[in-house]
Amino acid sequence: MDQIKSFIDQHQDRFIQELIQLLKIPSISADSKFKGDVINAAEEVKLRLEEAGCTFVEICGTEGHPIVYGEKIISPDFPTVLVYGHYDVQPPDPLDLWDSPPFKPVIKKTETHPEGAIYARGACDDKGQFYMHVKAMEFMSKTDNLPCNVKFMIEGEEEVGSEHLGEFVRNNREKLQNDVILISDTGMIGKDIPSITTGLRGLSYVEVEVTGPNRDLHSGLYGGAVANPINILAKMIADLHDENNHITIPGFYDKVETLSDEERSKMAEAPFSLERYKKALDIEDVFGEKGYSTNERNSIRPTLDVNGIWGGYTGEGAKTVIPSKAFAKISMRLVPHQDWKEITKLFTKHFESLAPKGVKVKVSPHHGGQGYVTPIDTIGYQAASKAYEKSFGKTPIPYRSGGSIPIVSLFEEELHSKTILMGFGLDTDAIHSPNEHFGIHNFLKGIETIPWFYKYFTELSK
Ligand code: BES
Ligand code: MN
Ligand code: MN
Repeated sequence: MDQIKSFIDQHQDRFIQELIQLLKIPSISADSKFKGDVINAAEEVKLRLEEAGCTFVEICGTEGHPIVYGEKIISPDFPTVLVYGHYDVQPPDPLDLWDSPPFKPVIKKTETHPEGAIYARGACDDKGQFYMHVKAMEFMSKTDNLPCNVKFMIEGEEEVGSEHLGEFVRNNREKLQNDVILISDTGMIGKDIPSITTGLRGLSYVEVEVTGPNRDLHSGLYGGAVANPINILAKMIADLHDENNHITIPGFYDKVETLSDEERSKMAEAPFSLERYKKALDIEDVFGEKGYSTNERNSIRPTLDVNGIWGGYTGEGAKTVIPSKAFAKISMRLVPHQDWKEITKLFTKHFESLAPKGVKVKVSPHHGGQGYVTPIDTIGYQAASKAYEKSFGKTPIPYRSGGSIPIVSLFEEELHSKTILMGFGLDTDAIHSPNEHFGIHNFLKGIETIPWFYKYFTELSK
């Protein structure tokens, strides 16, 4: 096992080139124009899994984008690790804010990544991260270091809500049977601060439509006499928070898990610089729910945010008009015990009640998912912790993330196994933003850490 470092030294240039090749494929799941590219990416993942030593690999079609499944089963007596990841990426827009084209990967050195980082859409989320597992697999199978069975499930619809993965999992429970699920699709606290994600937030995503008069109107002739849907929508949205930045939806906080003072003070020990945080975002101050720290606001507390808002005239020059309609997309990040379907209902009821008679309101739920917390007293967590100790020389810090991977709670329901979230991205890696990147140091550290997880998990399973 100690050969892992020299194996990486010897092959790292090729690993990086292979990742770059995968990053060149614009596998944007949200945009049907890229359907062919999504399939090309799946084919490439299949090929790489075969090269890495999987003895069986297939592309499983769904009503949407395909899922790549691969496995190497060495013996029914050994435990099985199921690796999940996604090869689809977010749309790269706005394109003009990228310093280099999103699907022409380049390596650049930065202050955070002096060894260089690969800039491309999907570099960190999630191609670069799931590819660490493919290369760790290559190492283990080529050097006779694979101690247990491995299954890979790499999907192509994560960024659009994993619409067809649930059905796939339900229909393939036997095939996907495992002892632990391993995912690298989250982050770590800092480059040299090994940390394991122990929580993910849930999500409820809705779109709202406010309709006033049956057509756009002259804003002089009608202005002041009929409800303007944009004015109304803006006020309705503003009403969703109070002066302490609490969400005003009745019942919204009823099931929110409350952490003990001890848990909160433990959380506060994690290294964090508010000054650096503000500087990185170019903001004078942070903003959020009264009574909570920044790290609490973005992990253990639920939120409500407008993701997009539109309506009326937005073209060049001026057009005096009262629009007929206004729209917004709203996401709510949820914490353990909040049920996303119930929250969606509470939102809908409350939002409709905020509207004056002069407008009609329509709320359409998009997608959602439950939050997740990983217990730290499992052999999965212990194996991960020991693996980081081996590669970083430090015990990793457990911490909860603000992001969501809704499918994780479904895995637990359907496959009855726990997920270990070994993320190697940094918050500053700009996932979903222009100039997304992934540090080469992080990429290689991931490849180095993963085989140790397999070793310790197998040993602890005995
Ligand atoms: N990998 C992210 C989630 C993530 C990132 C979790 C960093 C923790 C730390 C994932 O691809 C993602 O973007 N999820 C979406 C939800 C999905 C339903 C579109 C999200 O969190 O917005
Ligand atoms: Mn992701
Ligand atoms: Mn994502």
